[in-house]
Amino acid sequence: MSEKTLELKQEFLESLKNVNSMDELENIRIAYLGKKGSVTELLKEMKNLSNEEKKTFGQKVNELKNEVLDKISQKTEELKQKELEKEFSLMPEFDISIPADLKRGSYHPITLAQRQCENIFKSMGFVVADYSEVVSDYECFEALNIPKHHPARDMQDTYYLENGQLLKSHTSAAQNAIYKKYKDALINEGKPIKAIFPGRCFRNEATDANHENTFFQMEGIMVDKNISISNLIFFMKTMLSEVFQKDVKVRLRPGFFPFVEPGFELDINCLICGGEGCPSCKHSGWLELCPCGMIHPEVLKAGGIDPEEYTGFAFGLGLTRLVMMKYGVKDIRDLNSGSLKTLSQFTEDK
Ligand code: DAH
Repeated sequence: MSEKTLELKQEFLESLKNVNSMDELENIRIAYLGKKGSVTELLKEMKNLSNEEKKTFGQKVNELKNEVLDKISQKTEELKQKELEKEFSLMPEFDISIPADLKRGSYHPITLAQRQCENIFKSMGFVVADYSEVVSDYECFEALNIPKHHPARDMQDTYYLENGQLLKSHTSAAQNAIYKKYKDALINEGKPIKAIFPGRCFRNEATDANHENTFFQMEGIMVDKNISISNLIFFMKTMLSEVFQKDVKVRLRPGFFPFVEPGFELDINCLICGGEGCPSCKHSGWLELCPCGMIHPEVLKAGGIDPEEYTGFAFGLGLTRLVMMKYGVKDIRDLNSGSLKTLSQFTEDK
């Protein structure tokens, strides 16, 4: 019987030499250790032996079994290593000294305009605050004096998440959190709140040359004692003349927004048609660019600020609109097109 184990061992080692793949190795494993494998069969034969024979032969078969297992796992490692080497040999060699043949990327025109506005406001002492795109109903509406069922909500239908949160329909949604963050410094240290917060906004609406379901705004607020409409007008004018690097014609007319009182629409003379009328300005010669107003007392109260003592202004600059004016983009949808050919044209940073 012990000859048998020796024979089997020789046979196994011989066949292992010719194995070149995992599949072949698996076949050998089955041939020796599988249910009907040669080693397994030997173990089955043991039941016909005497007790004494069982002991010595059993030992030999088990030794053989362990050796087969060892050799198979050794071979597995070898094959894995070979496969890796093969993969590496197929990889192109990376030579760090070869100059890259790539065109430089460019910033999206909205990023450029946003940074420009941020710099202008920073130079006037405003902080740039960051805010999430997902907000609560309270932040987006209730805290802005737009209770449930208020008709003002109709104009700002957006995308709702299953947990009741929503994609913010305007940057004003960050106002409440910002009042709360800076109110202590205002009240205790007399530091005015001066913040801008640019961001992506969403609305569930049909798209055309002038409307998109995803667009950018930049909101700004200033709260202190004795802030008036003149402060608002000063900051708006300074910002626009910096952005366009020339005196632009603007007009202020009354506008209704539940979170400001009084509220205004700041229009800019259409720079695409020079005021003659075109599809971009709905043939009116003017483009609504920056609605604004004096912050409503209820909104200040919701932010923990006493409206009897403090006043402030807020504006919601249409950043996407601004880009259209600045770069002469006729169709708002081009800005979300992802077309590099279109978008890289506006880049100043070549
Ligand atoms: N959040 C308004 C909107 O998207 C825009 C707006 C109007 C913002 C007046 C303001 C403001 O801060 O004072 O329709």
